[in-house]
Amino acid sequence: MNYSLIGKSIRESATLKLNATTAALRAKGEPVIHLGGGEPKSKAPLDAITNAAALLSTGEVRYTPADGIPALKQAIIQYTETFYGQQVAPENVIASGGAKQALMICLQAILNPGDEVIFPVPYWVSYPEMARLCGAIPVPVLPGDGSFNPVLADIEKSITVNTRAVIINSPNNPSGVMYSELFVADIVELCEKKNLFLIMDDIYHRLIFDGKKPISCYQYAKDMSEGSKLVVINGVSKQYAMTGFRLGWAVVNKNLRQIMTNIQAHQTSGPSVISQQAAVGALNGDQSGVESLRLTLENNRKVMLEQLNSLNGVKVTKPDGTFYCFADFNAFGKDSTKLALFLLEKVFVITVPGVEFGLDGFLRLSTCGSIKEIIEGIKRIKWALDPDAPSELYVEDHKLVRNWK
Ligand SMILES: Cc1ncc(COP(=O)(O)O)c(C=O)c1O
Repeated sequence: MNYSLIGKSIRESATLKLNATTAALRAKGEPVIHLGGGEPKSKAPLDAITNAAALLSTGEVRYTPADGIPALKQAIIQYTETFYGQQVAPENVIASGGAKQALMICLQAILNPGDEVIFPVPYWVSYPEMARLCGAIPVPVLPGDGSFNPVLADIEKSITVNTRAVIINSPNNPSGVMYSELFVADIVELCEKKNLFLIMDDIYHRLIFDGKKPISCYQYAKDMSEGSKLVVINGVSKQYAMTGFRLGWAVVNKNLRQIMTNIQAHQTSGPSVISQQAAVGALNGDQSGVESLRLTLENNRKVMLEQLNSLNGVKVTKPDGTFYCFADFNAFGKDSTKLALFLLEKVFVITVPGVEFGLDGFLRLSTCGSIKEIIEGIKRIKWALDPDAPSELYVEDHKLVRNWK
């Protein structure tokens, strides 16, 4: 059968597939440790639940304006003022079905087939596929200095006449690295100079450690007129542990918001009103949950680093934020998919192969589970990879026997 060229070019979401694999293995009773996850385990804020429940109890759950209800737009405007020091109007704001949809409709609004979209390596798995969905060409740029910090000169060199946009995600999924203030200032300036859209994917911007503060790209923007090509993406999924609500947003210029709204109106209409009400509760309500999540993640990072540092051959870059650690396992083979499958089959530990993020030889390990899971997961990885380890390992009531070198 003939399916579309674009449809056939899109790869399965590696991370969503892993969630399904974990669920299937757990259903079979296997002692799975999920270090592949991308969502906090804490509960959604009470204010979010009360708001959503109050709406549900009326029994009147209706369509909303395609770009979101006024109360949510107002909460996003307030959020933008608090965390970015930027005043925006309702006409600059669109609420979507997750940051993912906000990104997707933004790309659909700005890209023509053949256009190029630049983003640093390692990158979030969806950026290349989203560009392809628009018929555009993803241009991943590897930092020339071998670090996880993008180098402005590398990005500048990758710009061609077809370049239309740059996507920056800091702190970064998968590396956890937060890009420097200088880099943010420089990339804003570069994109303004070259007349490119700059999409700041700030979904993890408050989940940062070591006393760091979120960076506002707006403070470096010279052009905040209606022609501004600065796009800020954010949402409630990560910081408020509300992944299942599917609510994110974009702050953009008024014309772009209108085009994105038109696209969203025909794709899905406005996001679920229940989720919008929940997001209003989260954004306007008690913020202590965000801080306690941040503290938990900072502590989990410490444990993850201690555990990984005891694993001979593995190199780790200390994450500044998020709930990921992107560790260099090249000493155990360049093929990260093979390594991740080996760890899954032999010791039931789920990790995400680095190749999905543009860097083979690495594994993304998640710190959003419990400390017990982190310690147990790394213990099993260590046992699997250490040829001098004892030949047997007891995992719950399973006896694992080493039958490999
Ligand atoms: C970098 C990045 N951007 C966007 C998203 C999408 O978030 P949402 O759940 O709001 O769609 C994710 C989710 O994993 C992410 O890691």
